[in-house]
Amino acid sequence: MESLLKVRNVSKRFPGVLALDRVDFDLAPGEVHALLGENGAGKSTLVKIITGAYRMDSGNIFVAGQEVNFHTPGDAQRAGIGVIYQEFSLVPSLTVAENLFLGDYPTRRGLIDWKAMNAAAATLLSRFGVNARADDVLSSLGVATRQMVEILKVLHREDLKILIMDEPTSSLSEGEAKTLFGFIRTLRGQGVSVIYISHRLDEIKQICDRVTVFRNGQKVSTEQAQDLSISDIVTKMIGADLAEHYPQKCTALGEIYLNVDKLTGPGFTDVSFSARKGEVLGITGLVGAGKSEMVETLFGARRFESGSITLAGQDFRPKTPRQAVAKGIGLLPESRKEQGLVLALSCAQNVSLASLDKISKPFLALGAEADIAIDSFKRLEIRPADPHNRVVNLSGGNQQKVVLAKWLMRDCQVLLFDEPTRGIDVGAKFQIYSMIVKLAEAGNTVIVASSEIEEISGICNRALVMRKGRLVGELTGAGLAREKILEAIAGGEK
Ligand SMILES: Nc1ncnc2c1ncn2[C@@H]1O[C@H](COP(=O)(O)OP(=O)(O)OP(=O)(O)O)[C@@H](O)[C@H]1O
Ligand SMILES: [Mg+2]
Repeated sequence: MESLLKVRNVSKRFPGVLALDRVDFDLAPGEVHALLGENGAGKSTLVKIITGAYRMDSGNIFVAGQEVNFHTPGDAQRAGIGVIYQEFSLVPSLTVAENLFLGDYPTRRGLIDWKAMNAAAATLLSRFGVNARADDVLSSLGVATRQMVEILKVLHREDLKILIMDEPTSSLSEGEAKTLFGFIRTLRGQGVSVIYISHRLDEIKQICDRVTVFRNGQKVSTEQAQDLSISDIVTKMIGADLAEHYPQKCTALGEIYLNVDKLTGPGFTDVSFSARKGEVLGITGLVGAGKSEMVETLFGARRFESGSITLAGQDFRPKTPRQAVAKGIGLLPESRKEQGLVLALSCAQNVSLASLDKISKPFLALGAEADIAIDSFKRLEIRPADPHNRVVNLSGGNQQKVVLAKWLMRDCQVLLFDEPTRGIDVGAKFQIYSMIVKLAEAGNTVIVASSEIEEISGICNRALVMRKGRLVGELTGAGLAREKILEAIAGGEK
């Protein structure tokens, strides 16, 4: 069958990196095609070239047999190509219909035609089987449904033929991702072709027809998804077998270091637990269960209303993150772009921001800054390994590693990780896990908030389960098996 989208021999160079090296890519009509590869492999760069956000250095792109060269994302959209990035662009306080037609509300005699708008929205929702009403306020919907509205918003405009999704599920729980997959199948049934980028490899076989793998800016292969196992995919991605999986957990736990008693605050109610030195304590649950709120409160980024926290036996009421940092607490936040990085600064500057006091005695020693950064760059395999590179130029996954490096450089006694491996490729994931376990072995207390069941099961000594802001269970030993965690999270709502 003739390809709907044909990419031929496309190259793109950034200063110091050949991001795409004579790449070919084919998208058939009505297929869901996975685009996979390690952090920095060139996936997002290809997407940006296809959609006109970046210009290619050389190569050709054809849509339905016609050569195209888009200069702006608007051009691409008019040609029937839409792209969804991970960040939401919807307005939570507006209704579904208002969001869908934001910017081009249907009008009648100069006034917004609410009736027509709601009717058009209702048709769209039912055509694609989205379980929401036109007049639902967006903030009342779950994340997966919001993501579908986001997709519909792009879809309905110019009657899209090609939808590109760059890591659409990284903020969804497993259940929500399933809902989104159902939706993607519906799209395919309606004749839309999809390019699907994700680091959650287990998803790929569930929804993708074909899989293309990139490595270091080159295409490695394109194959039928059903012919590949996850370990085949991993081998292609990293160019070798991934020998080890999860690190050996540390078993020598020390005394209780952090204690939380009947803590109530925005997003959680009456939560009590304690964590020991040398322990990796997981906090799991669906998106919205209160995990992030909990760790942000421990970090002083949110105020609690009642209850108490003790740190090494002392009452601890952090009012600001600065106070928490002074007490040896570090947080790797969930939304790294907003909270963790200064995009315009270099990597080295970002890494050292968290420990300026260590480096500046009394003046900022720029040499030391770069040295320390280079060391953590090696450990985390941040690519390209140039600490003077501006963070804004790194791929999504590599940006996250910079945030991680930033906190690893500090001497913290308590490390809080919120979804530590979101958007990070398989190879780097296991390096991060082994670093987390090493931090615990060194006697630190580590708390990992995660909705990735594998991760909780693989690295935690113990896991707390949260649902709707409350602690509903605690898992240890055999309770940390994958299916047990799943069961605890779902809590009867199967
Ligand atoms: N605007 C830019 N300026 C300089 N270098 C860039 C720019 N955009 C991307 N790069 C580099 O190009 C390479 C490919 O990056 P790209 O964002 O395409 O990776 P990716 O496959 O999407 O990775 P990830 O899974 O981490 O999102 C990386 O080395 C990245 O640092
Ligand atoms: Mg990317």
